[in-house]
Amino acid sequence: MADGMKKYILMHKNISVADIELDEATCAISAIGHVYSESHVPVGIPVKKGVINRAALNEWWKGRAIPASRAGIRNALEELNISTTQKLLEKCMGLSLSDQYWICPAGSGIEWSQVNFFEHSFSDDVGNILFGKGSSGDYISLMSPDNTSDGWLKKKWKIIDGKRCLIKGGSGATQQEPYNEVLASSIMKRLDIKHVKYSLLIEDDYPYSVCEDFITTQTDLISAWHLMQTMKKQNHVSIYQHYLDCCKAYGIPEIKESLDRMMVLDYLIVNEDRHQNNFGVVRNAETLEYIGAAPIFDSGTSLWFDKPTMMIGTRSKVGCKPFKNDHEEQIKLVSSFDWLDLNALYGIDEELRELVRGSLFIDENRCDALCKALRSRVDMLTDIVNTHRTGYVIDNCQGDVTEDVAYSGLEDDRDQ
Ligand SMILES: Nc1ncnc2c1ncn2[C@@H]1O[C@H](COP(=O)(O)OP(=O)(O)OP(=O)(O)O)[C@@H](O)[C@H]1O
Ligand SMILES: [Mg+2]
Repeated sequence: MADGMKKYILMHKNISVADIELDEATCAISAIGHVYSESHVPVGIPVKKGVINRAALNEWWKGRAIPASRAGIRNALEELNISTTQKLLEKCMGLSLSDQYWICPAGSGIEWSQVNFFEHSFSDDVGNILFGKGSSGDYISLMSPDNTSDGWLKKKWKIIDGKRCLIKGGSGATQQEPYNEVLASSIMKRLDIKHVKYSLLIEDDYPYSVCEDFITTQTDLISAWHLMQTMKKQNHVSIYQHYLDCCKAYGIPEIKESLDRMMVLDYLIVNEDRHQNNFGVVRNAETLEYIGAAPIFDSGTSLWFDKPTMMIGTRSKVGCKPFKNDHEEQIKLVSSFDWLDLNALYGIDEELRELVRGSLFIDENRCDALCKALRSRVDMLTDIVNTHRTGYVIDNCQGDVTEDVAYSGLEDDRDQ
């Protein structure tokens, strides 16, 4: 072994995947040795003739660390006396609460059952430091699932009533993301969309969202991004179609249906950041069998969260991801609205009003603007659905249908 290297086995729960070496200075994977199980290599990492692509595995490994863009990370690292987030990653053996991968120090005999965060408690030290609260004592435990949490918002895992929960803050002057998460949960509950339930926590006047871990000791979350690395995307194929094709190749059920639901939600809340790591699929970590789309999570970057009140609801362009950069275009990808009952959203604006009541960050003006804009999104979607349905009915009846029959808007139903 070269100097400054440390030997590990990349593990998937109890399965040895490959021998690896980590560079002590950078914590990058400097060498990959024997491959024990090709099928357990993380999804999207190419393996050719039994050889794992080291650059790709390194990207995957680095991607497990807290991103350098995380709010407050510089101060946190200083307090922890650790130079990079990759070093922090090594300190918790890469263990996470979103999948079952980890690295086992060679010759240590450590087993997954002795160290995983699903079954073992963990210290609040790293979480508290990430939240700018300092640690409880002189000794700081670095064994924390916070070392492997992704995303740029301030967040920490906490065990609440025996359940692993992710507590996530907001950003900027409005701190709107936690409220948006709760509202999105409520919209999805009303529309019967499979989702992660977020609730609101206020601490020292600041809002936070709290959600339970939807991954268990039996499952892995695999992001759309990693799934889409499993096949080469041809230039003429859209990202939407490529995702469907990759999921089809693995026989993952009901992906089109789940994307329909995700795009409807994101249209309603004008989500600007549904990037390819903000949705994905869940598989069984042992059998590797795909279960289906992950419940929808991380919907906070919506409802003009970082825009001044005057811009809320205006036609000024807001970003859209992951398939189109315009919400009006992306909603056209929805294959069916048959499942959608927009009447179930009646009164959702008042629910939003209740949710933000008392917030020090969202004043009455902003609240009024948000409620109005949300109502208007429901109306806009109602129009789109009706146009879609009208087209559908006319197609089937060779044009022999009046607009009245096909048109049953939300407004009409509300009046009844
Ligand atoms: N309830 C959960 N159960 C398991 N894993 C989760 C859960 N919520 C989030 N994660 C994982 O943690 C990552 C970060 O969480 P999340 O996307 O909510 O944070 P974020 O800071 O809002 O992200 P972004 O940078 O995309 O805005 C997710 O990409 C996912 O891998
Ligand atoms: Mg995210």
